[in-house]
Amino acid sequence: MSANKVHIFDTTLRDGEQVPGCKLNTKEKIELALKLEELGVDIIEAGFPISSPGDFASVNEISKIIKTASVCGLTRAVQKDIEVAAEALKYAQHPRIHTGIGTSDLHIKSKFNSTQDEILKRAVQAVKWAKNFVDDVEFYAEDAGRTGNEYLARVTEAVIKAGATVVNIPDTTGYCLPHQYGEKIAYLVNNVPNIDKAILSCHCHNDLGLATANSIAGIMAGARQIECTINGLGERAGNTSLEEVVMVIKQHKSLGFYTNINSKQLNPLSQLVSDTMRMPVQPNKAIVGSNAFSHSSGIHQDGFLKDSLTYESINPDEVGAGGSKIVLTARSGRSALAHRFHKLGFEFVRNDIDVLYSRFVLVADNKKEVKDEDLKELAKNYLQVITA
Ligand code: KIV
Ligand code: ZN
Repeated sequence: MSANKVHIFDTTLRDGEQVPGCKLNTKEKIELALKLEELGVDIIEAGFPISSPGDFASVNEISKIIKTASVCGLTRAVQKDIEVAAEALKYAQHPRIHTGIGTSDLHIKSKFNSTQDEILKRAVQAVKWAKNFVDDVEFYAEDAGRTGNEYLARVTEAVIKAGATVVNIPDTTGYCLPHQYGEKIAYLVNNVPNIDKAILSCHCHNDLGLATANSIAGIMAGARQIECTINGLGERAGNTSLEEVVMVIKQHKSLGFYTNINSKQLNPLSQLVSDTMRMPVQPNKAIVGSNAFSHSSGIHQDGFLKDSLTYESINPDEVGAGGSKIVLTARSGRSALAHRFHKLGFEFVRNDIDVLYSRFVLVADNKKEVKDEDLKELAKNYLQVITA
């Protein structure tokens, strides 16, 4: 395995599905899991098996059909959770149990009324218990973003010693700044003696809109797995968006990383997830929003029509977006208008366009977008006048 491969851990079916109104049934989860495998994700977190019989069934059925990706089930650091997850995962070709516990002072005191030593003991016991069922055990230190680095390093060392293959460092409340999150990962890389025996994973929430930046800071500091969801779905403001981190890695080759993701499938899968979860994608969402490759202002349209690279740093075909769009609005210019008339079959010279443009802006001022029908009407009226 190359040191520069970033493993993509998709949690659309677990953390993403925790969004109110986004609950999926087993059939829907299976359909999405197959598409995620086709996309090239390395790990599919299929659910939280002890949470409901339906989620147990989903993890169980997904385990039967997924061939290349690892299938993962979430648990608390509780024996029964781990046993149920192991049972749900029993048919998986590559099963992974994802167990863990809160490690910040806030979680230790307010949630567990416990102590650091006690929590460390429970973390180790959970990993050891999970190892009785599967080889691949990921440990999460919930609220690691607000956990002191020294204690986090002690927990990380102990769970790796207990057999954890991956240690997840969640910024559960999306609190960290990118340099802080990167420094946290770097601290673990430099201060955990057995760190070479495990992969560090970034699991960043988007409460401050920093999830993608934090995940990238994490891999630059030494992590090699990113936990993310399609469309950035997830609790509250969501998780790291899969399409964003994948394209940051692809566009910035100088970082030296790669993933296994087939980026051409990003837009079709984004749409499928949006439809299946009944959760619209915001139009200005990076990579997969309906406006991500639309150009509406005159200055941009003129530049784009001369050379698309002037206003697009990503080729829309590379992410399966089906091309760029020129949208005609009151902010559009003559170049875009002439271009659209040409596409509609009208060959106007510069003087015609000048006259048509003055009529176009009057129409555009009263509409959000000027459509082809409006342009045909304009052209028809104009041609009637000049040929009369
Ligand atoms: O955000 C979080 O801390 C989580 C863990 C359960 C991994 O989702
Ligand atoms: Zn989470």
